[in-house]
Amino acid sequence: MVSELQAQTAIAARSAITFMGEPSCSSSTCHGGAGEKHNQFLTWSKLDFHSRAHATLTTARSARIADSLKIGNPVESANCTVCHSPLKSVAEKLHSTDSMRGVSCETCHGSAKNWLRSHTRPDWTHEDRVHAGMHDLKNLYVRANTCVSCHQNVNADLLQAGHPELIFELDGQAVTEPKHWREKSDWSGPQTWLVGQAVALREMSWQLSQEKSPAENAVNRWSALLWLLSATEGATGLLPANEFSSSNGLDIKNATSVQKWSDQLALKTAEAKWSAEWTRKCLNTLSGTAKMFRGKTPTRTIQARRAERLVLALDRLANGLNDEPAAKQLSPVIDRLFKDVQSLPDFDPAQFAGHLEEFQKSLPSLSESK
Ligand code: HEC
Ligand code: HEC
Ligand code: HEC
Repeated sequence: MVSELQAQTAIAARSAITFMGEPSCSSSTCHGGAGEKHNQFLTWSKLDFHSRAHATLTTARSARIADSLKIGNPVESANCTVCHSPLKSVAEKLHSTDSMRGVSCETCHGSAKNWLRSHTRPDWTHEDRVHAGMHDLKNLYVRANTCVSCHQNVNADLLQAGHPELIFELDGQAVTEPKHWREKSDWSGPQTWLVGQAVALREMSWQLSQEKSPAENAVNRWSALLWLLSATEGATGLLPANEFSSSNGLDIKNATSVQKWSDQLALKTAEAKWSAEWTRKCLNTLSGTAKMFRGKTPTRTIQARRAERLVLALDRLANGLNDEPAAKQLSPVIDRLFKDVQSLPDFDPAQFAGHLEEFQKSLPSLSESK
């Protein structure tokens, strides 16, 4: 079972000779040059994980996964290429298998057929290009949707066969990906984080709503993210309070409602003008949850999953404070929290709660916000 987004990508890839392949982008006067304005191809081909995604399917680890799934050669199997080399089927039609390997330019930017020639016209605005079919990746909602289609849901049978578990976190992952672009001046890490988490929750909700008996692990991961975002909500006031934060609300029978709610949250957050005040409020609210980790309920397994998402959140939010002395002070405290969630089977809730309280004490006070 692939998600709606993956299915769309796959259909687009199959129906379309309209993908041009990255050689269309990579001449030296276009995106294959050396200077900052032209070096997107170099950054992608030399540094970006996405250019290697196809080669990953030829490793021993991939062979083991494929063996266990009995799907034959992973390089040839849509079970794998849908994310690791999505334009593969197009490449075959064009008899140009080398040029479309991995996750290449058009996978993210959209099929270039209708805008390849015209997108460099000096009288064209960004809006004109988007109108011609280029994905509007400057819009955080569009960007999150693009990345999440490969970075969150992976089928239970793949996980059982040894595929790494995927956690989508747009801000951190966008920082990890060697950037071939510059962000707009009003770009905000915490805003990017929240849009990404809301979209991740929507995708997880969709996956759960499709399954008759979802794995306990998947349910716990979902309810942990729902818990986190419900707690964040009061800090921004972007949506009216939801009823999911009660323990009953975390029941997967609500998956479809949560799917709608989280999509709204993602949209509203992407449209909002993010304020530094929100970043501080989110940090304060989320680090104020230590009591829950000292409680007898929920179970330790669920607490561990909540802690895992929480640490990612605190890291990104603290990074977005733009306050160097504070960041310096928080950094060792965050490192300790990361250690606490490194191995979830060994998770110690009381210890984590203690570290979380120290984190909250180290926060710059809310009144200092700019
Ligand atoms: C068509 C599927 C696809 C899309 C779309 C996609 N990725 Fe990836 N991404 C992958 C695959 C597959 C890998 C693993 C590459 C490998 O084989 O090592 C990966 C790896 C990564 C990694 C390194 C591993 C990690 O998780 O730290 C980062 C960071 C990343 N992607 C960020 C992004 C961002 C940001 C976007 C959206 C702008 C995005 N990706 C869009 C498929 C995709
Ligand atoms: C839903 C999209 C998706 C599908 C389907 C998928 N992968 Fe992946 N795969 C990823 C992403 C994203 C990563 C990067 C994970 C990370 O590092 O966070 C990854 C990572 C991997 C890795 C680890 C790479 C490393 O450097 O450690 C292997 C091996 C792998 N995939 C093999 C496969 C095989 C084999 C299949 C088919 C049976 C497959 N994948 C199907 C998205 C996918
Ligand atoms: C994993 C997804 C992904 C892949 C693959 C990818 N891009 Fe991008 N690209 C982005 C994102 C996200 C942005 C930032 C949003 C924006 O500026 O439109 C971006 C921005 C750009 C920009 C605008 C630069 C700026 O500073 O304004 C160019 C040009 C570009 N990409 C070209 C390419 C080319 C050429 C390739 C292939 C060699 C490529 N991209 C592959 C995601 C991707």
